[in-house]
Amino acid sequence: MSEDMRYLTFALGKGRLAKKTLELFEQIGITCEEMKDKDSRKLIFVNEEHKLKFFLSKGPDVPTYVEYGAADIGVVGKDTLLEEQRRAYEVLDLGFGKCRMCVCGPESAKELLKHHEMIRVASKYPNIAKDYFYNKKHQTVDIIKLNGSVELGPIVGLSDVIVDIVETGSTLRENGLEVLEEICPLSARMIVNQVSMKMEADRIKKLIADIKEIL
Ligand code: PRP
Repeated sequence: MSEDMRYLTFALGKGRLAKKTLELFEQIGITCEEMKDKDSRKLIFVNEEHKLKFFLSKGPDVPTYVEYGAADIGVVGKDTLLEEQRRAYEVLDLGFGKCRMCVCGPESAKELLKHHEMIRVASKYPNIAKDYFYNKKHQTVDIIKLNGSVELGPIVGLSDVIVDIVETGSTLRENGLEVLEEICPLSARMIVNQVSMKMEADRIKKLIADIKEIL
């Protein structure tokens, strides 16, 4: 690597996806040992050999870092991309973190969905919920933003249904809820800053090609 090469910076969403992403990078020969230390409070990690930097952030902030060019590349769930609506190129479906965005609720809520009634929808994803009900279903609903454990909504009477991620479906089952409608499939995606894609085209295209080969 030449001395004057600039660092390529990666923003990874904290949690499940970050672990899988690092495993994937390892398969193409990119390692970042210091990132594996669970007790570390460090926020940014450097791979001097390949001139790479990695940082972890809250998932919804990943597209923000990438849009502004603070990170060249990001790895984040499709749910977050749809919700955040940031400018960036979506270049790869990484194939892991597969799940579905769904409208869920008790079986009794099925009727409310059929008859386009004015219902309450709780979600961590108000923009996805709005787009689905207003633009696709043409149903006026009241959307209530929550920050997690959204399944509580219908159980405690806050909302009629929820819009949330379903992976195995066990959270729904254990709480007497079910999938009522499917909105879209989800998985981890790689995104690239629009200027970086041009300025660092060779390195980024090589990275994409290397990952594609092992997918
Ligand atoms: C997600 C999602 C569901 C659950 C789905 O929540 O919001 O609650 O996982 O997974 P399952 O279908 O395999 O049960 P997460 O664990 O990210 O936490 P949160 O509820 O606080 O958002």
